[in-house]
Amino acid sequence: MNLLRKKTVDQLVQESTPLRRTLGTFDLTMLGIGAIIGTGIFVLTGKGALTAGPALSLSFILAAVCCGFAGLCYAEFASMAPVSGSAYSYAYLAFGEIIAFIIGWDLILEYALQAATVSAGWSGYFSKLLEGFGLHLPVELTAAWGTTPGVTTYFNLPGFVIVLLITWILSIGINQTKRANDVMVIIKLAIIVLFIVCVVWYVNPSNWKPFSPYGLYSFQPGSTQPMGILPAASIVFFSFIGFDAVSSSAEETIEPNRTLPRGILYSLGISTVLYVIMTLIMTGVVPYKEFAKFINAPVAGVILATGLNWLAVIVNLGALLGMTTVMLVQLYGQSRICYAMGRDGLFPKFFADVNPRYRTPFKGTWFFGILTALAGGFININILFELVNIGTLTAFIIVSAGVMRMRRTQPDAHRGFRAPGVPFTPILAIVFCLVLIAGLNWETWVRFAIWFALGMLVYFGYSRKRSKLEPGRSPSDHADAEDGEGAGPALKTELA
Ligand code: ALA
Repeated sequence: MNLLRKKTVDQLVQESTPLRRTLGTFDLTMLGIGAIIGTGIFVLTGKGALTAGPALSLSFILAAVCCGFAGLCYAEFASMAPVSGSAYSYAYLAFGEIIAFIIGWDLILEYALQAATVSAGWSGYFSKLLEGFGLHLPVELTAAWGTTPGVTTYFNLPGFVIVLLITWILSIGINQTKRANDVMVIIKLAIIVLFIVCVVWYVNPSNWKPFSPYGLYSFQPGSTQPMGILPAASIVFFSFIGFDAVSSSAEETIEPNRTLPRGILYSLGISTVLYVIMTLIMTGVVPYKEFAKFINAPVAGVILATGLNWLAVIVNLGALLGMTTVMLVQLYGQSRICYAMGRDGLFPKFFADVNPRYRTPFKGTWFFGILTALAGGFININILFELVNIGTLTAFIIVSAGVMRMRRTQPDAHRGFRAPGVPFTPILAIVFCLVLIAGLNWETWVRFAIWFALGMLVYFGYSRKRSKLEPGRSPSDHADAEDGEGAGPALKTELA
């Protein structure tokens, strides 16, 4: 049994569906920012400020450095194998099938669960916006059970509905999506700049003292939660997730070798600058301990502390749009990873079926859309986001290790972009990812181990025998959705 059977770069490129290449550096940067800026800054900064104090800005820098090293590795892979499937496809090249499966399974945590987490944050801001107009949803229907201590909640209805709406948009074709994404990203950035310009005048530097009340890592008496800059970095790492989704659009990118790395690094750089400025302002306006009062909507809470109520309505709207684009890109990424896995036979063919009318992986999109909506509706956001973080950090580790391996095993493969400083860059990426994993709760490690075990059951019970690379199975056994006899139509030009 060859668990490490691999694909070659040529094989991957040949398998890719011919799509129209329309995306340039600007589009990719917008796509990246669309996926990056969302719940992390609008929701998790509350928990982050309580965990690290004003030093939260340093936590953001720590998380950004980790993502920067990993981003360089993603960029090298993306420029070498510009195909859909992102880290999943890269692992197929570098390590072989079982690691590719593990990463694909892992990416479900990153993409689908992330969209579920964001839907919970979306719901918090949606309720705040409605309150601004004097409308109140029954509190039981604003969040999943156990989300806010002391408040009885059962179901996140607004989040459930928005995820289904986005699924519908994605399932009927992406043309509408890119335009909507660009407009929403521009509005999101404008609103963040407006927040910075209006609120900076209310900073009281005495709120920054002490700057790092819990140091790098500590336990406070009577608490099992780690505190300090490192645990806060493990939390706000979530804010940067999404830049790697840029690499999923490699097949639709003009000159991917040049534009992909730029798109990844520009979107990461712009987001980092905005995050650091925003968190310095937030902890400068409100003493960090007071973030407990508005833990679900900290940016809105900071604005209310300034008395700029008009700004609160605008920023709430911006937060909603921001989180909508994040969910859009994540659910898009999820459907494309499962499309690639269905095409390879590791998931049922159902996921690779392309709808003849819309030319999208319609069924797969709805399958994960409904699962995501239910997860966001019923599961507590605090459980969700830590699982997303550990899943993503693990994917980053495998991609970084893959870059080192490919430099050794395929040194001559064409690389449009070479990550500088290999092997140090991927080694540093791996070290930073491990450090951030160490900052997470042990319960998260256990949940992740269970998810991993489930994945192994699926791989050995189903995927291994049905893999396109299984001896005796012809590629068309699985590829009929895109190119076999009685083939379905090709995937529609993505994001065009
Ligand atoms: N980075 C994305 C967000 O913060 C997941 O919402």
